[in-house]
Amino acid sequence: MLTGKRIVIVGGSAGIGLRVAEQLIGAGATLIIVGRTQEKIIEAKKKLTSDVSVYQLDASNETEVIHFFEQIGHFDHLISTIKHPHVTGDFATTSSKDLRIAFDTKYWGQHNLVQHGLKNINEGGSFILTSGIASRRSYPGFSATAAMNGAIESLVKSLSVELAPIRINAVCPGFIERFSDDKQRLETVKKLGARLPLKHLGEQNEVAKAYVFLLQNNYASGTIIDIDGAELCS
Ligand SMILES: NC(=O)c1ccc[n+]([C@@H]2O[C@H](COP(=O)([O-])OP(=O)(O)OC[C@H]3O[C@@H](n4cnc5c(N)ncnc54)[C@H](OP(=O)(O)O)[C@@H]3O)[C@@H](O)[C@H]2O)c1
Repeated sequence: MLTGKRIVIVGGSAGIGLRVAEQLIGAGATLIIVGRTQEKIIEAKKKLTSDVSVYQLDASNETEVIHFFEQIGHFDHLISTIKHPHVTGDFATTSSKDLRIAFDTKYWGQHNLVQHGLKNINEGGSFILTSGIASRRSYPGFSATAAMNGAIESLVKSLSVELAPIRINAVCPGFIERFSDDKQRLETVKKLGARLPLKHLGEQNEVAKAYVFLLQNNYASGTIIDIDGAELCS
């Protein structure tokens, strides 16, 4: 089903996006791996070893996004796993400048990709964006993350009607393992993991499977898949 398809993965140079790329190797698709940092992209290409193209792009920059689609031409599916700079803290004191930078990445980056990718998407194609459980579960200090992820999910639901028959979906990860140098953050997230219904953090590979499913299910649109160890139900 994916044989001969061109699949763009923005955020494919690291984390969940890289796991999606690994799972798609051997499916017969051509992969275009996109990220901001040149070294990470080169590293990802080495890891994937297969015949993938790579492209450096800051999706929050609309001019760059337009140029990107002019360069790559037509494609079948676009996955975005862009991650915003972390913004947590009291709503009353969070700087609006930091919030805008985060929104520029996570919301506007994904918005730009869909809006400008539309011209180049082939019939039968789809977009898969990424949100996060703060959209529907409230944690003190996470109002910015909640707003960004909520905006993505609303965009997906609305566009699933407006863009049909092009499909658009999102994956909503819960607390997922991250390979980070920030020890304090890792500790905090680990503690959170222990109190989840499944008692541990999710694995990037488990989340990646949801994107692969959405690529292949032609009747899924406007769908948000939660991969969260039942956190949203608790
Ligand atoms: N991991 C979790 O616990 C968790 C939980 C809930 C939601 N999520 C969401 O899941 C998604 C993936 O998370 P992750 O943990 O896999 O993140 P990650 O490991 O930090 O990977 C993010 C990827 O996005 C790229 N990227 C970031 N900003 C970009 C931009 N402006 N333009 C183009 N590429 C950009 C990064 O490349 P550069 O580093 O070179 O910029 C990298 O390839 C994110 O949307 C995140 O918010 C994750």
